[in-house]
Amino acid sequence: MFLIIEKVSYEGYYKMDVSADDRYRTLEKSMKKLSYEKSALIEVLHSAQETFGYLGIDALKYIAKRLKLPYSKVYGVATFYNYFRLKPKGRHNVVVCLGTACYIKGSDKILEKIEKRYGIKAGETTSDEALSLLTARCFGSCSLAPVIVCDEQIKGKVSLENPLCDIEEMIK
Ligand code: FES
Repeated sequence: MFLIIEKVSYEGYYKMDVSADDRYRTLEKSMKKLSYEKSALIEVLHSAQETFGYLGIDALKYIAKRLKLPYSKVYGVATFYNYFRLKPKGRHNVVVCLGTACYIKGSDKILEKIEKRYGIKAGETTSDEALSLLTARCFGSCSLAPVIVCDEQIKGKVSLENPLCDIEEMIK
């Protein structure tokens, strides 16, 4: 029963059968565990992102339907938090900390340099899918500020003059 979702296309509404996609089953299990509570939306979105790697429109529509929430509400929450990605993850990812300690040490400048170098904004992935750029609020490593994370590896005291070397190294 839960395996059909409605989609919108240029031809109008149509239904999509997601029963063959195990990821929706995993998502369904986590929503069930949370008793399909509307208030558990953020937790469900986290779980969906872990399952899909990002929050695509189909997954968001599915969540809206199952939690009986308006799609606009689900989409609004997903776009409000930097943590959530609405596009597929690149082969590599870099997360720039914009928490207070890092920000004071110039992490916004680091972010700008990365954006300029790769032609993407925070939350986006390069067109060759080599790199996704994300931001976070604090990794708990404030004494190492400014901090970025390259493919889960924390890089502290990142140089403001040349913040790209770790990234170049990672994606080469
Ligand atoms: S503020 Fe950046 S690690 Fe805490």
